[in-house]
Amino acid sequence: AEVIVVSSRQAAGALVAEAIERLVATKPDAVLGLATGDTPLPVYRALAERVQAGLDLSGVRGFALDEYVGIALDHPESYHSVIDREVVRPLGLTPSAVHVPDGRPLGIETAGERYETAIVAAGGIDLQLLGIGTDGHIGFNEPGSSFASLTRVKTLTRQTRDDNARFFDSVDDVPVHSITQGLGTILRAKRLVLLAFGAGKAHAVAAAVEGPLTASVPASAIQLHPRATVVVDEEAASMLT
Ligand code: F6R
Repeated sequence: AEVIVVSSRQAAGALVAEAIERLVATKPDAVLGLATGDTPLPVYRALAERVQAGLDLSGVRGFALDEYVGIALDHPESYHSVIDREVVRPLGLTPSAVHVPDGRPLGIETAGERYETAIVAAGGIDLQLLGIGTDGHIGFNEPGSSFASLTRVKTLTRQTRDDNARFFDSVDDVPVHSITQGLGTILRAKRLVLLAFGAGKAHAVAAAVEGPLTASVPASAIQLHPRATVVVDEEAASMLT
């Protein structure tokens, strides 16, 4: 992967927003893969500023990476809510053009297949934004995930639930399961942009970028992608050689 070290989260946001603006200039109905969590927020913020300055993203389509299973859709931390609040509204996307995996128990056994069908019908994902978990996950593909995996239900590791407890009242309120694009789904995107900030991500970034290809570090799958860019701050880059 190409690694770009930036001086701040804000600089990363500006850089990636610029790339997205260029993509949309050539393809107004571009399909974005949308990550949640803290990491992509500088990108969404930079894009929102450009939208306020006149950029039109209303034709852009989107597919979220993942969703918790068994959380109410209207829970403020469901990724349906987060994508609506942090992405669809501030960026002026068309709500019906933005998809989030369906984590509701009814029909969960076919939800992954339905999501894959929708991505294919949209012509695939043009640019997939990714964060990285401290345990090396991308999406919610926890260690042990197959590189060929497609959208399916995964159990979150204790480490991921601890990391995400900050979004809930306590770790016990963090859902145990998720439905996530697979590593195979992610690898089909035409372009990958993985972002990571802070010392807590340094180990996972080094393992993903410089370590062996291994299911133990799901993010190492990006090494198989011909067009993967890693944008990191100095702290997240600190264990790269
Ligand atoms: C979120 C996702 C996860 C996060 C990762 C990092 O949609 O797929 O892989 O990107 O857990 O989370 P943050 O950015 O909150 O550190």
